[in-house]
Amino acid sequence: MATLPPLAHRVGSYRPSKVREVFAQANAPGMISLAGGAPFLGDLPFGELATQASSILTEQGAVALQYSFGVGLPRLRQQIADVMALEGMDVDPDDVIVTAGSQLALEAICKVMVDPGDVVITEGPCYAGGLSAVMSYDTDVRHAETDDDGLVIDKLAAQIDELIARGKTVKMVYAIPTFQNPGNTVLPPERRQALVQLCSDRGILLIEDNAYGLLGFDGETVRAMKADAPEQVAYLGSFSKMFGPGLRLGWIVPPRELVGVLKDTVETFILNPPTMGQLQMSAYLDGYDWQGLLERMRALYERRCDTLIAALRGSMPASVTWQRPRGSFYLWVKLPEGLDSEDLMVKAMARGVVFVPGTAFYIDGQGHDRMRLSYCLPTEEQLTKAGTILGELITEELAR
Ligand SMILES: Cc1ncc(COP(=O)(O)O)c(C=O)c1O
Repeated sequence: MATLPPLAHRVGSYRPSKVREVFAQANAPGMISLAGGAPFLGDLPFGELATQASSILTEQGAVALQYSFGVGLPRLRQQIADVMALEGMDVDPDDVIVTAGSQLALEAICKVMVDPGDVVITEGPCYAGGLSAVMSYDTDVRHAETDDDGLVIDKLAAQIDELIARGKTVKMVYAIPTFQNPGNTVLPPERRQALVQLCSDRGILLIEDNAYGLLGFDGETVRAMKADAPEQVAYLGSFSKMFGPGLRLGWIVPPRELVGVLKDTVETFILNPPTMGQLQMSAYLDGYDWQGLLERMRALYERRCDTLIAALRGSMPASVTWQRPRGSFYLWVKLPEGLDSEDLMVKAMARGVVFVPGTAFYIDGQGHDRMRLSYCLPTEEQLTKAGTILGELITEELAR
């Protein structure tokens, strides 16, 4: 019989993912899932992608299937800099490190920056995958307070100062300033400036995760914090939501001082990002009107969002509230007193609807009064049905 040694200490701080529990049910037959953050891929130009993949393999197969540069292919790094220019950033392609998804980029930053016990501050609530990544290094993770506009900077400053006064080392603030997941807030410009200033004053690395920045319903892009503070901000980008997650391609543009160490760290994880996927992504960006497709996707997501809201409005009591999203995938719903989102999730699943309870986005037990409803993937018909089922369920629960 095999006998294994104990797990490394840091594994103890991994949190069992509630999202994972939910996902296990999301694909059950007949279930309508409002749970995932999976983009709608039905309008991608699969025929053209197939032609491009075929040319890549025919013309440069031995490159495509070979090891390649640890930091990513030069052409794609230039294209990434061009994408970032849409949000006001002037980036040297030499500072771009391509990764296998931005999830890996976040973990790489933590590996480089965090010693056991160091504090990393995240928004409360915070994207569950981000929480898992920042917790991976025996980190002391704290939530900062948010309101309808996102992080409340005065309170964050007081929180940081109190932590420092108690002898804590605050290393990083991890923020999703544009279309926050799950709150779907957009941090206003003055708060962005104040956040950058705060991090600069206290010597804290600011991580700007911008997976959804190009998915604003009105097509307008918000100026990234990285644009005005390139040496304070480590920027995380991703092709997952603006294209599809299947190629597993994201990137990081850290302050220049950190480029070398992060490049080495990413290499220890993956040697190099997937070569074939990078060539495919690069051909797509060069050869297809991807911004035109994104415009159609934004309109589709807005329609889906409004369809879900209409169904909820038609069936929920007015004590259930939310802020209408300005982009991306998520409706962050506030429940009235007396309802518990985990309990509701179990009951909703019995009626054929699955969503993520708010508790999945906190590490400190908050979120029982919240649920995250994703409208990105289900059809409008499914969204109407799911919204109505949830509305009826909540109405019944409140009447008990
Ligand atoms: C805020 C945020 N960042 C990062 C990711 C993951 O990105 P990637 O697929 O590039 O790892 C997600 C996925 O849902 C997300 O919501």
